[in-house]
Amino acid sequence: MNYGHFRADGSEYLITDVGTPSPWINYLQNGRYFATISANGGGISYYKSPLHGRITRYRINDVPPDRPGKYIYVRDVDSGEIWSLTWQPVGRDRSAYRAAHGFGYTRVEADVEGIASTVLFFVPPDDDQEIWRATLRNDSGRRRRLAVVGYVEFALGHALIDLINQCDDQHFNRVRYEPGLNSLFATKTYWVTETGGTQHQENKEWDQWAFFTVNRPVAAYETLRERFLGPFRNESRPLALETGTLSSRDTDYGNAVGVLQVDLELPPGGLEDVIFSLGVIPKAEFDRRKLATVTKYHRPTAAEAALNALRAHWDGVFRSARVETPDPDFNLFLNLWIPYQARIAFDVGRVASFYYWGIGRGFGFRDTAQDTVAVVLGDPARARERVLLLARQMRSDGKVYHHFTTDGRGEFTEHCDDPLWFILAVTEYIRETGDVDVLQKTEPFLDGPPGTILDHLFAVVSFARRRLGPHGLPIFGRGDWNDTLDYIGGRDGGESVWGGMFTVAMFNRLLELLSFLKTGVDLEDLTYARDRMREAVDEFCWDGEWYIRAFGENGRRIGAKENAAGRIFINTQSWAVIAGLQDGERLKAALDSVRKELATEYGPKICAPAFREIDPRIGLITRCVPGKKENGAVFCHPAAWLIQAECLLGRGNAAFEYFRTLLPNRVDADTFVAEPYVYSQYITSDEHESAGRASHSWQTGTAAWMYRIGLDYILGLRPSYEGLIIDPVIPSSWPGFKAERVFRDTRYVIEVANPDGVESGIVSIVADGAPVKGNILPISKNPECRVSACIRKVGG
Ligand code: GLC
Repeated sequence: MNYGHFRADGSEYLITDVGTPSPWINYLQNGRYFATISANGGGISYYKSPLHGRITRYRINDVPPDRPGKYIYVRDVDSGEIWSLTWQPVGRDRSAYRAAHGFGYTRVEADVEGIASTVLFFVPPDDDQEIWRATLRNDSGRRRRLAVVGYVEFALGHALIDLINQCDDQHFNRVRYEPGLNSLFATKTYWVTETGGTQHQENKEWDQWAFFTVNRPVAAYETLRERFLGPFRNESRPLALETGTLSSRDTDYGNAVGVLQVDLELPPGGLEDVIFSLGVIPKAEFDRRKLATVTKYHRPTAAEAALNALRAHWDGVFRSARVETPDPDFNLFLNLWIPYQARIAFDVGRVASFYYWGIGRGFGFRDTAQDTVAVVLGDPARARERVLLLARQMRSDGKVYHHFTTDGRGEFTEHCDDPLWFILAVTEYIRETGDVDVLQKTEPFLDGPPGTILDHLFAVVSFARRRLGPHGLPIFGRGDWNDTLDYIGGRDGGESVWGGMFTVAMFNRLLELLSFLKTGVDLEDLTYARDRMREAVDEFCWDGEWYIRAFGENGRRIGAKENAAGRIFINTQSWAVIAGLQDGERLKAALDSVRKELATEYGPKICAPAFREIDPRIGLITRCVPGKKENGAVFCHPAAWLIQAECLLGRGNAAFEYFRTLLPNRVDADTFVAEPYVYSQYITSDEHESAGRASHSWQTGTAAWMYRIGLDYILGLRPSYEGLIIDPVIPSSWPGFKAERVFRDTRYVIEVANPDGVESGIVSIVADGAPVKGNILPISKNPECRVSACIRKVGG
């Protein structure tokens, strides 16, 4: 790869050329305190909410991009030379810099002016601050006097107000220095949380003190951007560094910054540590916690201990599954980078990245439900919390907030699919953990008395059964999984064929759970509803070679042969299989049509041909440039479902080929542009001149699904209420594979052999020396269980 590569053990992505085609970022976070950081030090910091709790600024749409960030400048006091410990913002010789993104930390190394430096950025699991631990070594052979200057630009509270009302908002900033603590404290005396910046003026202050501190005596400091950068300058060449004078004055207005200078004298070979940290202390606890909080990481040993805790945290995430197949990329991504990304998407709630500015929306209901299915493996407690959080976003009629913030606000829309994702989250949580008691847990409905989780599930069922169109399929409303099919059929809405399949699949899950529980609940009614929906799909939606996508106004068909654009959509092919539609020949034909009509060298497209004419009776998808986003891109998230569907038909070669094609490190980086170590939301398809270009990296459900589909369907190690299923569907070229999977407190150490070179067909399983009937490993009572299994040719 042109800009970097994985470390051999997969534990880091090493960026050898920091001039990446877009900012290649990482996340430093503990679920409360969040920071993004690129290989060049750019990024934001926020506490809990990127909208309401923004600590630092990030100038969106700026040139150059990716500014400001977490910057440490160095000034050679004798020569006046200035550089930064990350390549940006000063931008000295690019080849002098290298970066590494690891799990929860980023490290940048440089060799400039005879000073070798390393900065390690991370957030401790237990403290709401980010550490920037710099080490400088004098390799120049002469004595050096250096000013080392840490820099952040504050936002202090509401990110949108900071952006759109700075002329007034700046009058509420306060920054003051406390000499005894080597620390700056900053806050805002006005805080908006209830409105999006309307005329209504709220009567409160930001509830946090931000702090910026360093572990050495401060020689000088600055608090106002104008004084530090100087007029008509940016971060590349701050005036105060040229003159060598910082004002050391507090501020009570203006663009607030935190700048701390420490002076170092390094003999030849001398090595010194400078630890900056940036964080928050809630005002309610300020007096009690201030001293301990700001001084804690002044001690290198505390920073070491926090780094070890961080490593242990991520090891805990990764330890629930470990695979060893003949494909090294599959192993590396499935063992490390896919679960890493999935956990980040879950923790961040998909709201903040280089592409998502954290000011527009809260958690998505369907997004959160899907992110949960990956996290339940390593962290069932957090998954349970999320299931309960989702329950609290529901009305007693089953309707849910489309987007919500964790402090209790949300927005209702008319999407037909949202509530049904709750069934996915609950059933997957119980399959994994066996925690059926969660169903009796009570959570409030938004509009009335509390109900159990089981009541919430039935509220979803009633929602799904209420809103049916003339074909007996869900009324589309303002979208289904695809948010851009928002005016199907014009204002009143047509019907979603995918929504019908999805309903069948979710009802199947619920029926499976209820039959297992033997609750005594009468299943006839639910079975009846499921069967009617399945029949409606079978009867009205098959188009000869594939399933159509929707009915619009006057029964107009969308995703059908007569359409010039959007003739075929991926989701109604893969979900026909996932929903368990009955006609096997049709299912095969549907997936074959995907290959024929949608496959590209970058992966399968979401639909084709892309729309080139605006159609207000279909909606946003038709307004989007062809080949990007939902309008015909390789949208990675639904591509994962295609892999599941291929596996369900036993076609391991096809499934694995799609999986490999979609891996983010496969395309040349100058073409791909986005980070090669995480999935992007989409890859531009062959219908656009920038084919192969990926965008919206990190915050996509792709990681969660690829994780589960890689483990559950390709390797076939999938949880069920009765035990762990073993049913691999692999490339025929694999002689077998090994895997470890922690399930219900037992570590299953599994070896699968494929002596005939087939794609699927489990014939034997032996667990701890005893043959197992069928393909479900009964739940073991031992901490470890050794399993060998074999797939063979039928009759072989
Ligand atoms: C975005 C949304 C997701 C939606 C998808 C397709 O990724 O976050 O909820 O399903 O687009 O429109």
